Parts: sequence; structure tokens; C-alpha cells
Amino acid sequence: MSGTVVELKDGRSAIIRPAVPGDAEGITALVNVVGAEERWILRDRATWTLDQERATLAAADGSRSVFFVAEVAGRISGLLNIACGQWPKNEHVAEFGMSCLPDCRGQGLGTALLQAALGWARSAGVRKVTLEVFATNAPAIRLYRKLGFEEEGRLRGAFLIQGRLVDGLRMARWIEPARSGND
Ligand SMILES: CC(C)(COP(=O)(O)OP(=O)(O)OC[C@H]1O[C@@H](n2cnc3c(N)ncnc32)[C@H](O)[C@@H]1OP(=O)(O)O)[C@@H](O)C(=O)NCCC(=O)NCCS
Repeated sequence: MSGTVVELKDGRSAIIRPAVPGDAEGITALVNVVGAEERWILRDRATWTLDQERATLAAADGSRSVFFVAEVAGRISGLLNIACGQWPKNEHVAEFGMSCLPDCRGQGLGTALLQAALGWARSAGVRKVTLEVFATNAPAIRLYRKLGFEEEGRLRGAFLIQGRLVDGLRMARWIEPARSGND
């Protein structure tokens, strides 16, 4: 899998590409920044060592899981990881999570990362892509709806965020099988 250059709304360019083990530091830094905001993702900080992260990235070889990164001016500024279920009964479904650095949000990076993941899902034979999002995360929900995801369920009070019970939304999108030819 190769990289794609995307122009952001503010004129910067981003490279969207599968992560390599050498991205472990940049990915860990990104997760620490987004986690410290304490309102968007489950983790408040990265809980792995760099060696563990390198091994995780090496194992995600694109066959059943992949990490996509978005590089802006040489910095890992966006991340999306997607993985198929591990069992014969759920390996047709892939779940993903994603984050962008605050100074890159609203510029089209999330859209580009999710489009890359949907392209991977189609080529990997995935039939359904799923995610879970805090019901309070309006920007993320809008992105997912824009790219065809629909709400499938609401987990009431599944999260306690800064002292407040927050619902979780399960969202999903079906993947059309790839047609033969040039698509
Ligand atoms: C959610 C997130 C990944 C979206 O990435 P992004 O690069 O900001 O998204 P984009 O710029 O591609 O915007 C995609 C759509 O989201 C919506 N959107 C983006 N920013 C928004 C905002 N501040 N408020 C409302 N909607 C917003 C818009 O519909 C936009 O589409 P449009 O520009 O065509 O109208 C990013 O905001 C982020 O990293 N947030 C913190 C971590 C997080 O919430 N991760 C997801 C956990 S489930």
C-alpha cells in the first residue's frame, strides 16, 4: 500500500499512508495529546512502550488490520486503526478508531483517513465497518454520517467523562463488494 497526498482546506498538504514501526513515537505522541483532552477518546494517554507499539505496527500488515497515519509537515498529525474481528463469525466486520491533532482538525484530514480505511476495507473483503463514539462528540458523528455511517445502537451511560454519564453510539456502514474492472 502506498501513500496519497491530500491538500487540506488551509492549503497544507498531508500524506496519508500505512504506518510503519518507525512511526511508533509519532503515534504515541499523538495519542498522548488527544488523550489529554479527556473528552474524545477512551484513553487519557498511551499505555504502551515504544517497543510494544513498534511490534503492534509490524503485526498490522494490512491483511486483517492496518494503521493509517496522516503526516503534515513531517509530523504524525492523524491516525486511524482498523481491524477485522478475530473469529470466523466476525471476521467480515472491521472496527476502527481515529484521532487528529487539534491544529489539524476541520481541514479534511479525518475525511481523507476514513476514505483510506474504507478503500482498504473494500480490498480486504470486509463487509461491514463499525465504530463506537461518545454521543457528545458532534464533530466525529458528523464525519461518520457524511461518509455513510448510520447509528445502530445507543449504550446508555456507558462512559463517565469528567463526572458526567455519556452514552456511547454504535455506528456502522456496509461495504459494497468491489466490482471487477478499474474501480
Ligand atoms: C473526529 C475527527 C477525527 C474528525 O477529523 P477532522 O479532520 O476534524 O474531520 P474533517 O475536517 O475531515 O471533517 C469531516 C466532517 O466532520 C464535520 N466536522 C468537522 N469539524 C467539525 C466541528 N468542529 N463541528 C462539527 N462538525 C465538524 C463536518 O461535517 C466535516 O465535513 P465537511 O467539512 O465536509 O463539512 C477529529 O475532529 C478528531 O481527531 N477529534 C478528536 C478525537 C476524536 O474525536 N476521535 C474520534 C473518536 S470516535
